[in-house]
Amino acid sequence: MNPLEFDLRDGCPALSLSRTIVAGLVVAATCSIATAWTPLARAATVDPANWPLLTPPLARDEHIEQQVQRWLARLTLPEKIGQLVQADLGSVTPAQARRFHLGSILNSGETGPGENSRAPAEHWLKLADAFWSASTDRSDGRAGIPLLWGTDAVHGHNNVLGATIFPHNIGLGAANDAELVKAIGQATAREMRVTGQDWTFAPTVAVVRNDRWGRTYESYSEQPAIVARLSAALVTGLQGAPGSDEFLKSPHVIATAKHFIGDGGTVNGVDQGDNQMTESQLLDLQLAGFTATLDAGVQSVMASFNSWHGVRLHGHKPLLTDVLRGRLKFDGITIGDWNGHAMVPTCRPGDCLPAMNAGLDIFMVPEAWQQLHQSLQRDARSGALSPERLNEAVARVLRVKLRADLFDAGAPSSRAVAGQWAQLGSAEHRALARRAVRQSLVLLKNESAKGKPVLPVMPGKTILITGPLADDLPAQMGGWSMNWQGADTSKRDFPSATAISVGLKQAIESAGGKTISASDATGELPAADLAVVIYGERPYAEFKGDRPDVDFQPDEPLSELRRLRAAGIPTVSVFISGRPLWVDPELAASDAFVAVWLPGTAGEGVADLLVADASGERKHDFTGRLSFSWPAASADATVNAEQTNPVPRFPVGYGLSYQAKR
Ligand code: BGC
Repeated sequence: MNPLEFDLRDGCPALSLSRTIVAGLVVAATCSIATAWTPLARAATVDPANWPLLTPPLARDEHIEQQVQRWLARLTLPEKIGQLVQADLGSVTPAQARRFHLGSILNSGETGPGENSRAPAEHWLKLADAFWSASTDRSDGRAGIPLLWGTDAVHGHNNVLGATIFPHNIGLGAANDAELVKAIGQATAREMRVTGQDWTFAPTVAVVRNDRWGRTYESYSEQPAIVARLSAALVTGLQGAPGSDEFLKSPHVIATAKHFIGDGGTVNGVDQGDNQMTESQLLDLQLAGFTATLDAGVQSVMASFNSWHGVRLHGHKPLLTDVLRGRLKFDGITIGDWNGHAMVPTCRPGDCLPAMNAGLDIFMVPEAWQQLHQSLQRDARSGALSPERLNEAVARVLRVKLRADLFDAGAPSSRAVAGQWAQLGSAEHRALARRAVRQSLVLLKNESAKGKPVLPVMPGKTILITGPLADDLPAQMGGWSMNWQGADTSKRDFPSATAISVGLKQAIESAGGKTISASDATGELPAADLAVVIYGERPYAEFKGDRPDVDFQPDEPLSELRRLRAAGIPTVSVFISGRPLWVDPELAASDAFVAVWLPGTAGEGVADLLVADASGERKHDFTGRLSFSWPAASADATVNAEQTNPVPRFPVGYGLSYQAKR
């Protein structure tokens, strides 16, 4: 147990400080926010009959169910409990996983093989084999159920050095191309299988209604229909089609719809906060991604950190059990979020029967997993945890493992594509990422300067490439990229990446133009035909990424744009961000403005749209359209379509193209 793990009794959100050390600051901030959403006295009720009754995409498989029953009859209590406990890589060894019969492990954004999150790919696979061998060791008569390794591969296999990192979901929402997203799911699964992981905690199906939330970029859209369509496509790409032979088998993986339910609708967009929507709003706005991914056969659903009218989802039996199982007919694994169970009243990370009784099957309990293993055994022995609930949870885990053919799949290194290092960041995946970048960019402004629209950049010109993020790979990746918050990373963490500025330079120069870089441009402004200014948000993730409003704060880019304009140099803003932000002054100071979101490793995709070829022909046109309303004021964090107030600066669906202006 990390000595810094803070006490949850004060009602602060669960945060294991080992996860990061933004901690000191974030805990203080989060705890003070927590008091702002202290659970309300009145609890809202759920009527399951209001929720859709789904038909599961996979019919009951008698053969699998018989095997599940045989295992249940054979497993000892510690073996059963082990299936329900998921430890973090940083706090468990293969020998311990064997001793405690752990059914799964995860790596967080900050843990990797040998306590090195930047470990080479070979080490990941070797460790996957070590955990698998330990879990399947039957030498002393133990059952030896193979373990699963879960990871947050949320925009590519983003924790592993050299992997392809695709645009974050907000950019894919702007692309709104289900076939593209499915292909990204396939590529991500493939790269995961190269290094031996079985299970990703993706997609996030949040429908974000307040852009202050630091996880806005994990969402495809503020619109349920876009979220439904794209999240189902990702699941199909990751898992394969339900009922087909490829389903869940390598090079496919298990997917997770997260976070059930209401994470995108908390008051003030507070991370882990309280969702106070009515039941019908929850149904209309927050459910679509779950029904769509369940229809696509998603095999795990992650409970959300947030509460609904003051009741934490991890302890919410009506939603976790009566709705998710009873109405939506989910028969896979309900997994908790990182110590999320500890937020339920009376619970601690190592002791939380209420979450189990509410319907959690696997506890994500990164550090206190031994304590939880013991307390659940105690509860089972005392009868507080009924044999029925215990067996149901274990059955769900086994069912998914059997569907994935885990018992016969052999060691991770023996499965399809394992160890094929060239697949990590392969040319094929890079081309896909580049296409995704191209499709995700949204052109918000393209005005005439000197008689012609400034974009595309024409051949033979001298272009100044500048701005604080001109050569900033971590900013281009955003959070959940080699590290949880995307902080403390540098170029060397993204060996297969091209910076946006590098892509621009290559494209401009190969069209006979000349580029002047930011470093050449200090002091006196050089003579240039056009300036491309690259700026925006620096990386963040959950907790840390929440903001008080949607005002894009830093003044420097604006001063730079104005300085360039004053010198008669037309300006193009390339805006990197995880959400739409109020940028009216920057828009006014730019001749063209492009929202590039968090594009990932294929920065050259930006130049594909911005730069014409040597004959002056545009290579591609903009097809990206906003999947989030763009605010017209810094206070308009809740600007969403279908509302008359506030009025957006640009509505959902907006986006210019070269061919026809909208
Ligand atoms: C996040 C989840 C993530 C988990 C494991 C949590 O803090 O909310 O989305 O899957 O950590 O890293």
